[in-house]
Amino acid sequence: MSKLWGGRFSGATDPLMEKFNASIHFDKLMYAADIQGSQAYAKALALTGIITQEESEQLVQGLAQVRKEWEDGTFAIQAGDEDIHTANERRLGEIVGSVAGKLHTGRSRNDQVATDMRLWLREEARALLQHLKELIQVAVERAVSDIDVVMPGYTHLQRAQPIRWSHWIMSYAWGWHADAQRLEQLIERINLLPLGSGALAGNPFNVDREFLAKELGFAGVIPNSLYGVSDRDFVAEFLFWASMTMIHISRFAEDLIIYSSGEFGFVTLADAYSTGSSLMPQKKNPDSLELLRGKSGRVFGQMSGFLMTVKGLPSTYNKDLQEDKEPMFDAVETLGGSLQITSAVLATLKIHPQKMAASLSNDMLATDVAEYLVRKGVPFRETHHIAGAAVRLSEERGVPMSQLTVADYQTLHPSFSDDVASVWNYEQSIENRSSIGGTSKSRVLEQAASLKKWLDL
Ligand code: ARG
Repeated sequence: MSKLWGGRFSGATDPLMEKFNASIHFDKLMYAADIQGSQAYAKALALTGIITQEESEQLVQGLAQVRKEWEDGTFAIQAGDEDIHTANERRLGEIVGSVAGKLHTGRSRNDQVATDMRLWLREEARALLQHLKELIQVAVERAVSDIDVVMPGYTHLQRAQPIRWSHWIMSYAWGWHADAQRLEQLIERINLLPLGSGALAGNPFNVDREFLAKELGFAGVIPNSLYGVSDRDFVAEFLFWASMTMIHISRFAEDLIIYSSGEFGFVTLADAYSTGSSLMPQKKNPDSLELLRGKSGRVFGQMSGFLMTVKGLPSTYNKDLQEDKEPMFDAVETLGGSLQITSAVLATLKIHPQKMAASLSNDMLATDVAEYLVRKGVPFRETHHIAGAAVRLSEERGVPMSQLTVADYQTLHPSFSDDVASVWNYEQSIENRSSIGGTSKSRVLEQAASLKKWLDL
């Protein structure tokens, strides 16, 4: 089988090199994008007059036939099909004959592959955006329905202040909302046309790149051919987006792994997303959450690996760039699964409000004691110290802070009076945090409403 680029070569390729060089086993994933790009290019060639309208139609129809073979699973990859571009063109030739040889006029696999990747990733990114929005929707709906559940909020994984469980859920919803915005912006940067850049210097047949862009649904044309064939920032950015989103998912998973432990017992994972141990009959393991946490490392690895691949590449296309596809494919696949599993885990999670409430302790209201005195006109720096002394006193006596008497409190500061009893109310502490973004009921519901609006629900 003669190679598309075989003209100047006399010796055969080492079979080992042939295998090493080939990308068909993974880039076949882009078969549809490749055909879409070629069909648009065949139309654009006819507009230049370099091929006839009839030839163009033959190419477009032949390409449709090739696509059908991929869809039916009847496309037979052959030895010598180096990549998806050569495979499709080889098959096109078998279907339409020698006119297939006109398709690549003025085009290079360099502008072709960059176009295929942008077309492919654009569609996948749109699908991922949908999954992400579904996840945000699950979070928002859960936050609304669980609004009355209170739990300990943590810093340093130490119990800090009482919060609403829904406030915790919404904290992740906001991270995912930022991820969704980043992805929307990234889709705009992906959505630019490299085709018509040729190998590097541009297209010699004055192909109408604006037409190509329109035909392929791109919002614009990449304005420099060297840049068009070599730019892979959209891949790097996508991998960063994927890493960031996975880090949010991973931290969410980590929280739930902790909350589902026997010691916490705040939540129970649905059976559908946990597994048992092959040895210990009592075990119910949060495998889904652990995999989410684990896969975040995998995606970050794809990003850092790819950045190393492109660092130091001379202008313009270099074969190193063939290494751009597997990280992109893998990240798309991993994110698709992870986003859907995260939604499902959150939607089916059982919570134990009693356990959460039982984990609240008086010392978590020490700040509220300080704030009580602030409301009586004592400067916060002093009140912080006084409340600290109250914590110490309760520890020394071995009783909760609420069991100290008013007289005890008055030994710490004269401004304490009977109404200090009102401090020992977790719900009240929560409702006091009523500025924008706080954990009070109306503020948490407000957050949910604002994301609901953003989701167009
Ligand atoms: N399979 C190649 C890739 O993925 C296509 C571009 C090849 N271009 C070239 N000049 N060898 O990057």
